[in-house]
Amino acid sequence: MSRPRVLVTRIIPDAGLDRVREACEVDLWDDDLPPPREELLRRAAGQDGLLTLLTDRVDDELLDAAGPQLKVVSNFAVGFDNIDVPAVTRRKIPAGNTPGVLTETTADLAFALLMATARRIPESVEYVKQGRWKTWGPMLLMGVDIHGATLGIVGFGRIGREVARRGRGFGMTILYHDVHPATPEEERALGARRVEMDELLRESDFLSLHVNLTEETHHLISTDALRAMKPTAVLVNTSRGPVVDPEALERALRDGEIFAAGLDVTEPEPLPVDHPLVSLPNCVVVPHIASASRVTRDRMAEMAADNLLAGLRGDRLPTPVNPEVYE
Ligand code: GLV
Repeated sequence: MSRPRVLVTRIIPDAGLDRVREACEVDLWDDDLPPPREELLRRAAGQDGLLTLLTDRVDDELLDAAGPQLKVVSNFAVGFDNIDVPAVTRRKIPAGNTPGVLTETTADLAFALLMATARRIPESVEYVKQGRWKTWGPMLLMGVDIHGATLGIVGFGRIGREVARRGRGFGMTILYHDVHPATPEEERALGARRVEMDELLRESDFLSLHVNLTEETHHLISTDALRAMKPTAVLVNTSRGPVVDPEALERALRDGEIFAAGLDVTEPEPLPVDHPLVSLPNCVVVPHIASASRVTRDRMAEMAADNLLAGLRGDRLPTPVNPEVYE
């Protein structure tokens, strides 16, 4: 029997790629940058499966270019806002993502950004590198305290809850907002209290974002939201860039409406080096690395491979984003 044909749109860890290679004819896009759109459309043609990244838009155009034999789309990411889910579902194609395995690693990075911005670590490192460290300074590079502060979490899913657990370890008060409240038992276990969004903005010393990008969450952190925050507050975003209005954030950081921001995700992505958010001293930007530990990326690769291979066999994907295709 001929082996299924798949397109893998970037080099992923061998932990997953080897599994795919064992079972399939693989067309691997092995450049560091994503395939340009035309190339993606061309290479998708005739494939039985697509292993995609969050940098590949999976929409009607791509699905049509692939053709009617396409059986599965497997996204190497937990987020799947790059996939037009109704478009794959209409074609009865299951799409998979990689939930769970990156929860803790992403929460670690959110907390690292929180600490780095609160205590001005990147600025301090630059200060030393530039030879400006002349003496111990009573007024030097003062930040804000983490211990005992109020941590506000927007989106209390898997990752939001892990950030809450980390905050508890620092003696923080945990507030959250989510359209789906946690149960009283879950709230008790995490020492967290649900509040409305306006109270969360008002009360939080640190606001950490953990929502999916949807029409409702697009530019959720707007000029008004930032103005509602404390001037000493720190914003952390490890969700998706467009959850924050970048122009509003730039203004808020420049005008001292909030103290600082730590961003793993931005709008646009990548953020051009001459973008004001890159040069503001109170903004720490890292290049979308929240899940980037070796172990976690291996697990994501295994999961993405498992979803792809299950779809090719006609089995239910272990983690489908559109389980409705099985109804
Ligand atoms: C990364 O952003 C992911 O969604 O896995």
